[in-house]
Amino acid sequence: MQKGLVIANKENEFMQLKEYIDSVKESDGILMQTLQKAQNIFGYLPIEVQKFISEETGIPLAEIYGVVSFYTQFSVTPKGKHKIGVCLGTACYVKGAQLVIDKLVKELSIKVGDTTEDNLFTLEATRCLGCCGLAPVMMIDDEVYGKVDPKHIPEIIDKYRG
Ligand code: FES
Repeated sequence: MQKGLVIANKENEFMQLKEYIDSVKESDGILMQTLQKAQNIFGYLPIEVQKFISEETGIPLAEIYGVVSFYTQFSVTPKGKHKIGVCLGTACYVKGAQLVIDKLVKELSIKVGDTTEDNLFTLEATRCLGCCGLAPVMMIDDEVYGKVDPKHIPEIIDKYRG
């Protein structure tokens, strides 16, 4: 089976996905769970993985692509080891969330939505995280940082650089 460079050397992952698909193939409505499983295995859903799912399940590629593009839980680009989410809800925005984002963009040399070249960080803007009293709020993985001062960003990021 011929696959793109992006996912070369992923035979084990494809085997794992195939085993999963074989185990659920006979059930109804398997697309969402299969995509979730594939994303857990590969970390994201490149077109090669979507094609594979299409071939193995018989679900048209266009339908798969439509679902992947519609739901924000799915990603077609690789995600970094650490996900940084900066809240751009109203309270955070008023308290300077844009300055936090600007500092992160500079510190990581990436745009919002992108992943650093070393695959360590993905930077995202999020909706209200439900702790507006701590605005501006940023999350790194499951850890919440409140009242973030942009000048502390480099030292916070350094903790994750190990
Ligand atoms: S607006 Fe940022 S946590 Fe609510």
